[in-house]
Amino acid sequence: MNVADSERAASGLRRAGYELTESAENADVVLLNTCSVRERAERKVYTRIGEIPGIKHGKHKPFIGVMGCVAQLEGEAIFENAPAVDMVIGTQATDRIPLLIDRLQKGEESLIDLEERAVGEVWDVSPVERHSPYVAFVPIIEGCNKFCSFCIVPYSRGREKSRNADELLDEVLRLKELGYKEIHLIGQNVNSYRPKSTRGLDDSEGATSFSRLLRAVAKTGMPRIKFTTSFPRDFHPDIVSAIDEYPNLCDWVHLPVQSGSDRVLKAMRRGYTASDYMRRIEKIKTAKRRLALTSDIIVGFPWETEEDFRQTLKLVGECEYDSLYIFKYSRRAGTPASKLSDDVPEKVKTDRFLRLESVQRERQKKIFEQYVGRTVSVLAEKPSARSATDLVGHSTCHKVVNFPGDTSLEGQIVNVTITAAKVNSLYGMRASAM
Ligand code: 5AD
Ligand code: SF4
Repeated sequence: MNVADSERAASGLRRAGYELTESAENADVVLLNTCSVRERAERKVYTRIGEIPGIKHGKHKPFIGVMGCVAQLEGEAIFENAPAVDMVIGTQATDRIPLLIDRLQKGEESLIDLEERAVGEVWDVSPVERHSPYVAFVPIIEGCNKFCSFCIVPYSRGREKSRNADELLDEVLRLKELGYKEIHLIGQNVNSYRPKSTRGLDDSEGATSFSRLLRAVAKTGMPRIKFTTSFPRDFHPDIVSAIDEYPNLCDWVHLPVQSGSDRVLKAMRRGYTASDYMRRIEKIKTAKRRLALTSDIIVGFPWETEEDFRQTLKLVGECEYDSLYIFKYSRRAGTPASKLSDDVPEKVKTDRFLRLESVQRERQKKIFEQYVGRTVSVLAEKPSARSATDLVGHSTCHKVVNFPGDTSLEGQIVNVTITAAKVNSLYGMRASAM
């Protein structure tokens, strides 16, 4: 979502006549996009501000803006913590950045915009600003109404707002014409996609607006469609049926569970039990194609006991995740959980993190090894960072795949036969080249 916001900010600035520079040294304006989901990410922004060229030497100080969740939540306090900052740009003010810069140029100081998005703003990102010429993020819903007790997102991003499907479908068709091969429909909880109007969905069946949207997007013929993030309670089995029906809906589901203990899930206010979650997983495992499954887990939530943690280990053992993002609980001021005493010592959190990581690593190794000898479809995205003669891309099941190939293949979907499983990626040869 942050990458999509940066793309949107860059598009708006370019439309207003600004150019993007390669280095902060040459910049007249420096914008820092921020995340506040965990404390470490939040603290990073202050370090980064101190690193902006011009600040230390005081020669040519650019205008500095802080955007994103930290801006929304900290507001005025940012000016106190970092006096070099000129603009605080809330999560819904992205489109107004050029106006704020105009005001700075006219001599105004310390500008802050935490207002809502203006009515009628369209999400229009120009292709030059996209992070990749082949893969595009398409936000379908912003904000979150779930209020999980540990999470800051409902406060930083506000209530859920879905974009209308006709606008989304136009965007997807445009991306397809421009040669994009893969789109990610994104949102904090895509399953609760609920547009104000059904325009664009009328020709597509489905049990929920989201599964209708999936079918409608699939019908555009975009070669690969992925979506993230799903929320267990809202994950309707019809999503799996839609994936079964349309080969361009990719074989990957990211379904964060957060914990395997019912007691902890309740304190997290997730609204489901471990067995509710497992029922969703069973449905996912009955899909016609094997769907890759990934998840997020928080260890060391307040009052998590060794027994609670063992339930998490058990669940992770049963789910057979293709990959897992593990986080140590981080207290976020203003969330309901911040009122609970964060009583799991740091040492215990680290210990649980490492134990869970090692269980996952072992499972993941087995899953990845099963790919050896199989052929997967890979979108060749860019040269590999590790080898000058290799390219890197993602499979439809969202695994990183490296393979020998030259840059003429970039942007193409190729068949790669897997020859080796690494810890977090696969290695292979183009099927025709073998
Ligand atoms: N502490 C630790 N991890 C968190 N996440 C969200 N809030 C917190 C927090 N306060 C994790 C969740 C979520 C992912 C994006 O970040 O696992 O799914
Ligand atoms: Fe945060 Fe996700 Fe829960 Fe929303 S559903 S409150 S974004 S963890």
